[in-house]
Amino acid sequence: MILILSIESSCDDSSIALTNICDKKLIFHRKISQDNEHKNYGGVVPELASRLHATALPKILSLIQNQLQSVRAIAVTNEPGLSVSLIEGVMMAKALALSLNLPLIAINHLKGHIYSLFLQKPAIFPLSILLLSGGHTLILEAENDRDIKIISSTLDDSFGEAFDKVAKMLDLGYPGGVEVESCAKSAKNKNLIFPIPLKHKKSLEFSFSGLKNAIRIHIQNANKINKSEICYAFQNAAIAHISQKIELYLKNSNIKHFGVVGGASANQSLRTNLIAIVKKYHKEILFAPLEFCSDNAAMIGRCAIESYKNHDFIDICDLTISPKSRIFG
Ligand code: KG4
Ligand code: ZN
Repeated sequence: MILILSIESSCDDSSIALTNICDKKLIFHRKISQDNEHKNYGGVVPELASRLHATALPKILSLIQNQLQSVRAIAVTNEPGLSVSLIEGVMMAKALALSLNLPLIAINHLKGHIYSLFLQKPAIFPLSILLLSGGHTLILEAENDRDIKIISSTLDDSFGEAFDKVAKMLDLGYPGGVEVESCAKSAKNKNLIFPIPLKHKKSLEFSFSGLKNAIRIHIQNANKINKSEICYAFQNAAIAHISQKIELYLKNSNIKHFGVVGGASANQSLRTNLIAIVKKYHKEILFAPLEFCSDNAAMIGRCAIESYKNHDFIDICDLTISPKSRIFG
């Protein structure tokens, strides 16, 4: 068995995986989330995230000490993300590559999310992708593993970020996506409606800041607020916005496969809506397993198999981090 050891630390999840290069099987995966530590602040505190990675990553690594002799390459997320978080994973990757005399593979986090669709199986290209995370809202088209272009992005906040901010306004806790989704489920009165962003625009861009503001104003002006009704109405408007733009995109796309990735792709109402739209346009929808929608090292390891096969290695001195994505055109 020959393995890739992959490391993910781009935000507030410390994760390490071992993936079999030959059959793509996931041999080991562990993730330590920092949700509880950041909860008190209502969002990720970069310096705290960095300190927690510094203890969590070695803790996970210690569990696979006896498998290191089978490792043939070290893969690590080096962009995009929080600089101080990325550095922790990259420094560990450099130390491992140096001490074990192994090649290094740099993985773009967004590309990693795409490969969450192909864990333990072959990839499918060409592929359209909707990427919904805390930092990004993108429609991408991937011709193959290397040729990936951005078709549309958000003009302001991302989809996941909007959930996080609404959760904060309603004091629902962090991370917001799961909290808002579960709070929306208990809404009894469904008459509250927020405007769907960019409803009459024929462009594919997304925007969530107007919707977020509408909710802020509603909370400010209401005598008594009903959290579940607000969550329900917000989620409906946010998903309707995504659905409208995806319908517009699919109408003119001849790519058969449509993948939905990123932490927010775990949202069940979103999944239900997208499944219906994709069916209407006779496309095939792909989702990652729920466990691997949010940040994880398994997707980084799966992505790195392609780089390993292409001998796409990076010198230890050339491996840098970037808060922004540098690879998609
Ligand atoms: O991909 P991810 O784990 O981290 C980034 O790369 O940003 O995505 C995290 C984002 C957060 O904004 C979180 O609130 C959102 O995904 N999220 C959700 C749900 N689960 C996570 N948003 C809406 N509904 C959910 N069920
Ligand atoms: Zn992510």
